[in-house]
Amino acid sequence: MVRPERLFLTAGASHGLDLISGCFAQPGDTVFVEAPTYFLALKILQGRNLRIVSVPTDSDGLDVVALEHLLEMEKPAFLYTIPVHHNPTSVTLSVVRRRKLIELAEKHKFFIIADEVYQLLNYNGYTPSRLAAFDDSRVISLGSFSKILAPGLRLAWIETEPKHFSVLGRCGVIKSGGGVNPFTSAIVESAITLGLQDSYLERVRKVYSQRCAHMIQVLDHVLPKVVGFTKPKGGFFVWLKLPQYIDSKELLAEAQILKIGFRPGSLFSQEEGFTNFLRICFAYYNEAESEWACKQLGRLFSSHLQ
Ligand SMILES: Cc1ncc(COP(=O)(O)O)c(C=O)c1O
Repeated sequence: MVRPERLFLTAGASHGLDLISGCFAQPGDTVFVEAPTYFLALKILQGRNLRIVSVPTDSDGLDVVALEHLLEMEKPAFLYTIPVHHNPTSVTLSVVRRRKLIELAEKHKFFIIADEVYQLLNYNGYTPSRLAAFDDSRVISLGSFSKILAPGLRLAWIETEPKHFSVLGRCGVIKSGGGVNPFTSAIVESAITLGLQDSYLERVRKVYSQRCAHMIQVLDHVLPKVVGFTKPKGGFFVWLKLPQYIDSKELLAEAQILKIGFRPGSLFSQEEGFTNFLRICFAYYNEAESEWACKQLGRLFSSHLQ
């Protein structure tokens, strides 16, 4: 259950992250991010002149053991994490790791910025509650209508302990504007009250779930066996792993000729690692379009295998 006094409206989760970066850290401060992470979050943090340190992840999400080691050497202002249906890996952080992460945040006194924009886009099985539900003092959660209603609305929210809002309220852009996006908020409030948001969410969840299942089935058939990929339980993305000797960025020009696109793995970390990985999205295209594109992708990979 979300209590309204714990919510602060923003013009998108991106705007929420930017606001927090300006209010909860100073230029030059260290912040931790996962590697890989949402590539535009990196841009937002860089735009605030923060010093970014990467923490490794694995198939259970953020590696909390590696994080514990790093905390012996570094003191971050906050850690930015995507604990649910991660962009780009689609992994969800386990409950055990969520508890450990919160314990570490308490011990080392840093904030956890939990980007939970895919929390409600679950297609298959159990999803843990929002990180904010595990702790209400160290977690600042980002949600957004972008993924569940429409990105053009530029409407989203921060969920945290109300005492943190005084820090955000002192921020010039909030003081000067007196708040964010009240007109759109009123329209979306009506959509919620009338039950339209619920029925729309049910519909998109069904569509995305079908697209996701279909893409996984097609990829299983058309990709060379040496190419691995995650099987998402929610969110928008499939994360593919090519043999080490292939740099996905170098395939982009050929992909364009084949009229397909993807995001190369090197985009998703400050160190530009993950060169043999790439991210594709199943949410946007219908089944026929995505099947055609996956076949093209399979051909492209096959032509580069040694
Ligand atoms: C993890 C993550 N956070 C934030 C965003 C952007 O959200 P918004 O449109 O609310 O700014 C995206 C969009 O791709 C995303 O994947």
